[in-house]
Amino acid sequence: TIYSVSALIMAYLCGSIPTAVWIGQAFYGVDVREYGSGNAGATNTFRVLGKKAGIPVMLLDILKGWTATNLVYFIGVSTTGASHSIAYTNYELALGIAAVMGHLFPVFAGFRGGKGVATLFGMVLAVNLDSALLCVGVFIVVLLITRYVSLSSITAGFTYLLGVTFVFPVYIRSVIIYGMCICALILVTHQKNIERLLKGKESRVNFFKKKIP
Ligand code: G3P
Repeated sequence: TIYSVSALIMAYLCGSIPTAVWIGQAFYGVDVREYGSGNAGATNTFRVLGKKAGIPVMLLDILKGWTATNLVYFIGVSTTGASHSIAYTNYELALGIAAVMGHLFPVFAGFRGGKGVATLFGMVLAVNLDSALLCVGVFIVVLLITRYVSLSSITAGFTYLLGVTFVFPVYIRSVIIYGMCICALILVTHQKNIERLLKGKESRVNFFKKKIP
C-alpha cells in the first residue's frame, strides 16, 4: 500500500541522517570519513574525535534504527487475526533494514555512510529486547577481550541469528531469513575489517586515550 511504501521511504531517509559526518563537521570541522577507517560510524567517530563525539553518534545511530522500526505503527497492519504478529514483525524488520540502507548509502552525504551496526542494533532493540540484550552482552565481552569493535560487531550479528533461532525462538521463518541477511550484510560491510583482522592489522580500541586531530 501507499502507507507501507511511504513508511519505507521515511525509514530510509531517517537512516540517511549522517550523524557521524554532521557532528564531526559541525563541532570539529572534520569529516570523519577522511580519517581512521574512513567509516562514517560511531566507532570511527570515537577513534577520530573521542568519546564526546562518539557517544552521541552511537546513540543517535541507534535511535535512527529504533525510530524507523517503530514507523510500523503508521503502516496500519491489521491488529487482528493469526497472521498479525508475523506481518507486523516482517514490516518492522523491513523498516529497520531500510534505515540501515540509509545509513550505508545516505542520500544526505553523497551515499558514503557507515556499516550499519548501531542502526541494526536500534532495530533489534525495537523488535526484540531479549535478543538486543544478548547481543550487547556478547558485543561487550568480545570487545573487552579482543578490543576489536569490528570483531565484536560481527560476533554480535551472528549472536542475533543464533538468538532468534535457538535462544528466544520466534518461530517465524522470515525472522530467521532476515537474521541470515543481517549476518551477510555485516560480513559484506566489514570486508576490509575482516581482511585486516586476518592480517593482524585491525586497529584496537584504546579504552584510556582520547584523540582529537
Ligand atoms: O560498527 C562499525 C565497526 O564494527 C567497525 O568500524 O571504523 O573500525 O571500521 P570501523
